[in-house]
Amino acid sequence: MRTMKSIIFAAAAVAVSFGFAEVAKANEGIELPQQIWAQSGPFGRIDKTQARRGFQVFKEICANCHSLGLVSYRNLRGIGFTEDQVKEIAASAQVQDGPNDQGEMFMRPAIQSDRFVKPFENDKKARVANNGSLPPDLSVIVKARHGGEDYIAALLTGYADAPAGFSVPDGKYYNKYFPGNTVGMPQMLFDDSVTYADGTKATALQEAKDVAVFLSYVAEPTQDERKALGVKVILFLVVFSGLMYACKRQLWAGLH
Ligand code: HEC
Repeated sequence: MRTMKSIIFAAAAVAVSFGFAEVAKANEGIELPQQIWAQSGPFGRIDKTQARRGFQVFKEICANCHSLGLVSYRNLRGIGFTEDQVKEIAASAQVQDGPNDQGEMFMRPAIQSDRFVKPFENDKKARVANNGSLPPDLSVIVKARHGGEDYIAALLTGYADAPAGFSVPDGKYYNKYFPGNTVGMPQMLFDDSVTYADGTKATALQEAKDVAVFLSYVAEPTQDERKALGVKVILFLVVFSGLMYACKRQLWAGLH
């Protein structure tokens, strides 16, 4: 009887999980083009040169609309910018500080410990500038969307003419990968939208992939360290298991 019950439970659990998998697929919609990412998998690491190119794309293009409210300028050290470079990057933005001795708020150049300066004072202003759509903060967007970096790259390069009969509302744009296919963000990346100092050819896809790597880094700046530690821990556990097994054999050897 017991076994019967557990078999039924197990079957129900499997059915439910398949059901959910179907729903998840339906929500994800169209399949994303899969890119190769240096940072994926337990042995993957962020390609810092690529992440620095991605920062350039972010700074020159995305930062006009999107904030990175959880990221400090000093986080840029993790992708290979020197302290002086980070100071210079920070100082090019102005932040509000205060109140001073007179009780007034004042503007000053940002320093390394400041968070990335937001492009809009508040969400209302951001919406007004974007036909009513709100550009979300991109600090953890790679973790917040199905497909992560693949989704970001697909979204940024997924603009196309709407198929016949599909009507795109005013102030929206057709995109193959945005859920519902109409997005409030216009196409931002074109070939040569930026000029890379390292000579990399700036195709729209290259720019999209580079900025996706940068956004992957900011979503978890310590991901490389976490993975390196994980690998060490597993190695330790393997060796430790062997040691324990040897001990067990030794201890029980006399008790046959
Ligand atoms: C002109 C302003 C503008 C610029 C520049 C811009 N975006 Fe956006 N972005 C938006 C708006 C508005 C939305 C919200 C769209 C919506 O909800 O329909 C958005 C949404 C997004 C989303 C979220 C999509 C989702 O699934 O919710 C991502 C990711 C994104 N942008 C990335 C970028 C990146 C990366 C860049 C730089 C290459 C960039 N954006 C440049 C306005 C902009």
